[in-house]
Amino acid sequence: MNALKINKLLIALAAVTLGGVANAQSGENTYKQVCAACHGAGVLNAPKFGDKTKWAPLIAEGQVTLTAHAYVGVRAMPPKGGNPNLSIEGFSDALVYMVNNSGGNWKSPDAKTLVAINKEIEARKAGTNKKQ
Ligand code: HEC
Repeated sequence: MNALKINKLLIALAAVTLGGVANAQSGENTYKQVCAACHGAGVLNAPKFGDKTKWAPLIAEGQVTLTAHAYVGVRAMPPKGGNPNLSIEGFSDALVYMVNNSGGNWKSPDAKTLVAINKEIEARKAGTNKKQ
């Protein structure tokens, strides 16, 4: 095999490897594109990216509850982070990225967790579990 072929092989391998972290990557991208505007600087008292003290009680609510409530909108936090096209999957991954950089250790929600999140969203919208 000559050097050029080896290079092509390495590029192909790199592409496969990068595909494996696509989820984490898209969470980071969504955070930067949608959430950072407020959560980067703490606009309107948004819990700041990396502020472990502010995030600890939120993380303690659990992934299903916190994701669902934030997606629907809480007080000054706009629904879907103010981006009507943002899917629950995209929103969840952005939140996972923010949480994991603020003292938490969450995973991109699996199918079962997404079902639970969607159920909580419906309940929240119907107002059957208002707590705030
Ligand atoms: C327009 C500004 C703005 C944008 C954009 C925004 N947020 Fe927020 N967010 C806020 C504010 C303000 C709060 C604090 C709400 C409060 O407690 O009054 C908040 C609170 C939250 C909370 C805590 C909710 C709770 O139950 O207290 C989560 C989780 C959250 N945001 C996630 C996100 C994610 C994920 C994105 C991007 C997809 C995002 N936010 C985009 C302003 C924003």
